[in-house]
Amino acid sequence: MRWLPLVFVLCLSACAQQPPKDDSLYRELGAMPGITRIVEGLLLNIARDERIVERFRRIDIQRLRNKLIEQFCVEAGGPCTYTGDSMAESHKGQNVSRSDFNALVEDLIKAMDQEGISVPVQNRLIARLAVMRGEVIEH
Ligand code: HEM
Repeated sequence: MRWLPLVFVLCLSACAQQPPKDDSLYRELGAMPGITRIVEGLLLNIARDERIVERFRRIDIQRLRNKLIEQFCVEAGGPCTYTGDSMAESHKGQNVSRSDFNALVEDLIKAMDQEGISVPVQNRLIARLAVMRGEVIEH
């Protein structure tokens, strides 16, 4: 019992070192229901997008849906875990070009417009995904 205050102080300082998690983007995207609608809208827009739809014809769309929801949730600071493959692994051998990448981002923007997400909030999500560009294209 004598060391209880010490444990308390140690715990407090350990906790203080964790930066508070910023989940504002997650909330502004509408949390899980909003992110789910955005991902489903993105997939519908891809299905109508002749520039890139061919690449998605023979894959497990249900899996892609689920992994994208997890990934967007994590990137937005939400309480999720991404359980999919790395971006380098999942796009390896696909030879995704810069214009393919831009087309997908346009489809995502359209999906967020359809959900009434404001442009500054859209830009925050796009910025999080843009850093993955190097791992997605030309592999
Ligand atoms: C920022 C941009 C992108 C992100 C965040 C992203 C994210 C993802 C994620 C999370 C997966 C699932 C990984 C898994 O199954 O474990 C995936 C798979 C896939 N992505 Fe992307 N992706 C992006 C860009 C693109 C582009 C531009 C294309 C092609 C036009 C593309 C085509 C695919 C395909 C075809 C798969 C399925 C691979 C398979 O199951 O074999 N992705 N992507």
